Amino acid sequence: MTAPATTTTAPGKEHQPADETARQDDAFDRDVLPTAPGATAALLRSLLAPMKARVAFTTLLLLLQQAAMQAGPLLVAYAIDSAVPAFRDHDNGPLVAVGVGYLVCALASGSLQSAFVVAAARVNQDVLLDLRGRIFRHAQALSVDFHERYTSGRLISRSTTDVESLRELLNEGLQELVGVVLSFAYISALLLWLDLGLGAVAVASFVPLYLLIRIYRRRAGRVYRARSTAIAAVIVKFVETMNGIRPVRAFRREAVNDTDFGVLNTRHERTNGDALLEMARYVVGSRLVANTAVAVIVLWGAHRVADGSLELGVLAAAVLYLRRLYDPIDRLGMFLNSYQSAAASLEKIAGLLAQTPSVAEPAAPKELPPLESEHPGREVVFDGVRFAYRTGGEVLPRFDLTLAAGQTVAVVGSTGAGKSTLAKLLARFYDPSDGRVLLDGVDLRDLAVPELRRGVVMVTQEAFLFSGTVAENIAIGRPDATREEIEEAAKAIGAHDFVTALPDGYDTDVRKRGGRISAGQRQLVAFARALLADPAVLILDEATSSLDVPGERAVQRAMATVLKGRTAVVIAHRLSTVEIADRVLVMEHGRIVEDGSPDELVAGTGRFADLHRAWRDSLA
Ligand SMILES: Nc1ncnc2c1ncn2[C@@H]1O[C@H](COP(=O)(O)OP(=O)(O)O)[C@@H](O)[C@H]1O
Ligand SMILES: [Mg+2]
Repeated sequence: MTAPATTTTAPGKEHQPADETARQDDAFDRDVLPTAPGATAALLRSLLAPMKARVAFTTLLLLLQQAAMQAGPLLVAYAIDSAVPAFRDHDNGPLVAVGVGYLVCALASGSLQSAFVVAAARVNQDVLLDLRGRIFRHAQALSVDFHERYTSGRLISRSTTDVESLRELLNEGLQELVGVVLSFAYISALLLWLDLGLGAVAVASFVPLYLLIRIYRRRAGRVYRARSTAIAAVIVKFVETMNGIRPVRAFRREAVNDTDFGVLNTRHERTNGDALLEMARYVVGSRLVANTAVAVIVLWGAHRVADGSLELGVLAAAVLYLRRLYDPIDRLGMFLNSYQSAAASLEKIAGLLAQTPSVAEPAAPKELPPLESEHPGREVVFDGVRFAYRTGGEVLPRFDLTLAAGQTVAVVGSTGAGKSTLAKLLARFYDPSDGRVLLDGVDLRDLAVPELRRGVVMVTQEAFLFSGTVAENIAIGRPDATREEIEEAAKAIGAHDFVTALPDGYDTDVRKRGGRISAGQRQLVAFARALLADPAVLILDEATSSLDVPGERAVQRAMATVLKGRTAVVIAHRLSTVEIADRVLVMEHGRIVEDGSPDELVAGTGRFADLHRAWRDSLA
């Protein structure tokens, strides 16, 4: 019976070196999942790639706008040195030309700017739309074990605050940066052309500025990463508390939660303070450099105007240009802010997108053999299966089990015995650490996901309802089902009466009327959904636990219908459910300790006989 482990999918826990596991756990705790070097930049490139032409057009608009804007001081220099002297000689042509030129440049710069803002906003919208979609699709495709560790609060924070900080970068920051870089280039060139010496002083001031920016970037990067982790922690705590509002109330957790939330909130606040402090240091440093450069140029320039080696107009233009040059440096700090914040966010998003499902789709999917009409249902084999969750010890130590096609198998055992784990392996929520789970001889890992979902359906205690109508919730089992088929499934389950008693019957919105749909009724809807899906293998994991006794009797009757013609695994606390089974398995500590028909086991002297006797007594 021993079969070699297949190696088609990612190895399970015990094949992973311990330090790798520890590293991964640490990454989850710090909320920064590992990415390949350059993954963040690659993500940004892949987002912009589909709109290359539009990005180029937008950049062109900005280039032209800058050219128009930077013409101003040059015109002033011309006015002072040539047009005003000409005007004194009664030639007003040049001065009129300067005035008209100035006006044209201002108009052009304004309209180009507005065209740019519109074009850039359109590109940004599309980038963000794409990114949110990617996050959703990717997160949805990741395996259950990922979601058990990466809470929904974190996912919410990825697709809200993190996407938002990218939006800020694209909307304001990038425009700012390109503007600043362009004006640096334009202005340095113009200054050098106007006067080599003055230009050289301006260009020399770039060196300390560059160093300042580098230091700021490094320090702010750290602060921003901490800040984005801190805000995520606030959101996680918020979502967790509100999701669990009932136990919070029941156990009077409000005060404790307030304190915990206060701590997280304060930590976020403090990281904000750190960020502002870094910003303030940067602004002080850059102003010092800028003002020193201006002072040098004014003093030296004035000296040269006095001895006649520099024209006054050129000095005036140079000072005007310098102001334009250094003005945006504070804003450059702002940009670096939004850049750092966006980089930290993108890094987290890239880390999320880099996660691969641990339960992978097969490269070469196999098909299930056609169902036999004689014995519908499929044979299930657990072949040398061993399983451990990522966190914790082995739950199933070497497990061999064959369930015949069409059999109804009840699984009982104490809490924590591993019953749900067995069910989840059969539904392929997880892959075994070792061994194989076979459906009609085909390894679950070789089945295409749609085929697996048609083959095996699991109904759990939670019986989750999605927003939408009751009918829509049942139709999830088979989206192309007609209203008649939906109602038939509900009737077979015994849900029809309660549904028709709802205000809008099958069209009742379950969210709006959510309070009126009890846990038991939700389970009935989940049953109807499963019946409609008509899988070859049906797993019910404590799926009748919320039903009251008359409800359970009704379901008992209905279950005979539902389970007929398929392989069924029924995990049940209540022994009444067990009586309809062909075979009963008693599980303890991940092993099957008893196996037989209900009658055999009741007649025997094992655990099931004890349980059954106790149950009988409780009924009397
Ligand atoms: N998602 C999980 N991560 C880690 N350990 C788990 C997880 N789910 C269950 N376990 C552990 O596996 C063991 C078996 O659990 P389970 O299969 O749910 O038992 P049962 O359904 O029989 O009550 C328990 O010790 C439980 O703590
Ligand atoms: Mg369970």
